[in-house]
Amino acid sequence: MHKPNTRQGIDWSRAQAFAHAEREAFIRNNPRSAALAERAQQHLLFGVPLHWMRDWGTPFALHVDHASGAQVTDVDGHTRVDFCLGDTGAMFGHSPEPVARALAAQASRGYTTMLASEDAAVVGEQLASRFGLPFWQFAMSATDANRYIVRWIRAATGRCKLLVFNGCYHGTIEDVFVDLVDGRPVQRDSLLGQVHNLLEHTVVVEFNNLPALEAALAGGDVACVLAEPVMTNIGMVLPAAGFWEQAQEMIRRHGALLVLDETHTISTGPGGYTGAHGLSPDALVLGKPVGGGVPCAVYGMSADLAERAMQAKHSAPPGHSGIGTTLTGNMLAMAAMRAALTEVMTSDAYDHMLALAGQLARGLEEMISRYRLPWCVTQVGARVEFQFTPTPPVNGSEADRILDGELEHILHLGLLNRGVMITPFHNMMLISPCTQAADVESLLGALDQVLRQITAPS
Ligand SMILES: Cc1ncc(COP(=O)(O)O)c(C=O)c1O
Repeated sequence: MHKPNTRQGIDWSRAQAFAHAEREAFIRNNPRSAALAERAQQHLLFGVPLHWMRDWGTPFALHVDHASGAQVTDVDGHTRVDFCLGDTGAMFGHSPEPVARALAAQASRGYTTMLASEDAAVVGEQLASRFGLPFWQFAMSATDANRYIVRWIRAATGRCKLLVFNGCYHGTIEDVFVDLVDGRPVQRDSLLGQVHNLLEHTVVVEFNNLPALEAALAGGDVACVLAEPVMTNIGMVLPAAGFWEQAQEMIRRHGALLVLDETHTISTGPGGYTGAHGLSPDALVLGKPVGGGVPCAVYGMSADLAERAMQAKHSAPPGHSGIGTTLTGNMLAMAAMRAALTEVMTSDAYDHMLALAGQLARGLEEMISRYRLPWCVTQVGARVEFQFTPTPPVNGSEADRILDGELEHILHLGLLNRGVMITPFHNMMLISPCTQAADVESLLGALDQVLRQITAPS
């Protein structure tokens, strides 16, 4: 009798035949994307504006005509329901109307002057009341916001070490690319052009491991812990009950500061995971959706940190601080943030997102059990993910072990060909305020069709 070659509950002979047919269908159905990809190949490295755009696992880069709300329409005229939402940049939908309106109003009034507009004070007030930290600065990306807050904290504390959790991602701020391999810190070998030894100033421990955290802090040289409250970039890893309460106390006791990067976990609620769970970081970072997808990011500080940061600047010799870029805080970005914070990232919007995300999570759980897959579902507010393990991972090493890029690509391509987009990185799905119950049903229906063709027939 034929014995199926199974992995992750998938029949790999069927999956490979399915992948082949899906690639053929993609090529057949997307001739205009193919032509544009061919043309872009002439002058763009890897044929795309950013080489990550080749990570979708499609035979060639899909090209977009327009995106609106929870939908993306490609140049061949296919409209897909979008659960990727620009990997969080468009968490509140593509071109949210208040942001589009604010951008249009600012468009004829100047973009960038190196001066503040009226929006600056309003955005500062909004951020302070939403996140409970009194002082704020801006950046053009979450990467840069992380880079700058770490610099401010090193300057303010006089300590040089950064502590991160294994498997973290905080953008391309170099300092964080240190992994634990067999329990030993190792600089990530995929980094290109890296010349500084990152091991000198970065300490890495496993998430959810309080004794390891305590041991790493005990030397008294850690300036800050930079963390997502829930790890999201190696698949999702939830904090164990009480982890953050104890970690916060420990970090403080050792004279280090806590920076929470809420760039993804802002999916939890209007005040992020921090607000929903009553955490009290010394600093908070938020990028991507804070301007409705317009390039900008923010970082906030406690009063104490702000005072020490200002002192550091005042006592430094004249010259460049190494913090900031010319377009930071430009008038377009400030207008976008004001609109996003006051009219888009509202409690009503979150109520809708969270309810629908719950519906999606339940639908996925039901399907996983129906196909008897050894998978689980993890949810952080509007963010839902299925993972190839029966029980959720508790740290970065566990999460890393269960990643399966080949299977992800097969699933994602199958979904794309059936009118649904999810992120090209692991299996993340976001619900926006524009996503409808029928969209969730479309996703579940498409996934059901794919699984029927790649699991062993019962
Ligand atoms: C938690 C977190 N922080 C920061 C970033 C960096 O964002 P950006 O690429 O917009 O700089 C990311 C990107 O995915 C992220 O996941």
